[in-house]
Formats: sequence, C-alpha cells, structure tokens
Amino acid sequence: MPLELIKVSTPEEWAAYHRIRKAELWDARGRTSPTYNPNHPDELKPANTPVLLKLNGQGIGTTRLDDLSHGRFCVRLVAIEKTHQRKGYGRVMLEQAIQLALKHGGKEIVVNADEDAVGYYRASGFREEVWDALELNSPIAEGCVQMVRTL
Ligand SMILES: CC(C)(COP(=O)(O)OP(=O)(O)OC[C@H]1O[C@@H](n2cnc3c(N)ncnc32)[C@H](O)[C@@H]1OP(=O)(O)O)[C@@H](O)C(=O)NCCC(=O)NCCS
Repeated sequence: MPLELIKVSTPEEWAAYHRIRKAELWDARGRTSPTYNPNHPDELKPANTPVLLKLNGQGIGTTRLDDLSHGRFCVRLVAIEKTHQRKGYGRVMLEQAIQLALKHGGKEIVVNADEDAVGYYRASGFREEVWDALELNSPIAEGCVQMVRTL
C-alpha cells in the first residue's frame, strides 16, 4: 500500500516520528520552550497511540491518538513533513486516525489546533468548540483553538 497509517513500533519508525514532530512543530516554528522531549512519558501511556503516516514505506507524517475516555479521542502534535505538505496527505492522515478512533468506540475527536492550522481542521469537518479549557493553560497548548468533530 503506498499510503498507510501505522502504529509506531520499530526503532526506525520512532526515529521518523520524533524527527518529523521536532522539525515541523518545534524547529520550523522557532519553539524552544518546552524543549522537545522524545522521552516524554505520555508517549508510552497505554491510552495513547503514536502513529506514523508512511508513503511508499517512508514516514512523512505523525500524530498521536489519545483515548480521553467516554468516546472522546484527541489528535495531538499533528504534522506532515514540509516537502509533503499541501498535497492532501494531512487530510488522509486525519481520516485514518479517525477510522482508528471509530474502531475503538470513538464518538468524537478533538484537537488543540494551532491558530494557523484551524482551516485544515475545518476542511475535515471540525468546528471551533472549547472541550477542556484547562488544557489551554498548558505551555504546549498556549494560543491554540479547541476544535471538535462528532463522529
Ligand atoms: C497542518 C498540516 C498537518 C496539514 O497537512 P497537509 O498535508 O499540508 O494538508 P492537506 O494538503 O491534506 O490539506 C487538507 C485541507 O486542509 C487545508 N489546509 C491545509 N493546511 C492548512 C492551513 N495551514 N490553513 C488552512 N487550511 C489548510 C487544505 O487547503 C485542504 O483543504 P481543501 O481540500 O478544502 O483545499 C501540515 O500542513 C503541517 O504539518 N503543518 C505544520 C504543522 C502544523 O501546523 N500542525 C498542526 C498543529 S495543530
């Protein structure tokens, strides 16, 4: 399959996962605080599923699907590698993450959207709606717009 969303498992997949996130969500934005931590304990929580979008076997996009319980799933740190952006891959990755959520009983999918990415989520059927105001206090979600898509 040329395009597939897989659960990150091999050392190569973990390396691609962290490389893409650090490049697109930290370095490209000049974000220095908090520093990117590949060993963040959230990566290994059983309710959280790190995934990698592969194109012809190469990782080109990442997100993490967190089960927040009661049918609510969250996509976190969504990123497509710069050279592959605006070619429809982000939409495919989101749809495949949603399929995964549905498989596990998902009723809604939520996100802390970067201001610049609100249009991307809107294009995939998300609406602006506060789903957990407390999350917006965390440094990583500062300035984000909370959005929801009912599944
Ligand atoms: C945001 C991102 C994940 C989108 O992925 P992508 O592969 O570039 O997006 P796609 O080509 O699949 O676009 C899907 C739709 O979203 C729209 N879109 C994509 N990026 C957009 C943006 N930044 N602003 C507004 N709309 C956007 C596209 O126009 C398209 O809509 P259309 O079909 O109605 O024309 C990707 O550009 C990226 O990684 N950006 C840098 C990191 C980032 O901002 N991540 C989101 C953090 S919350």
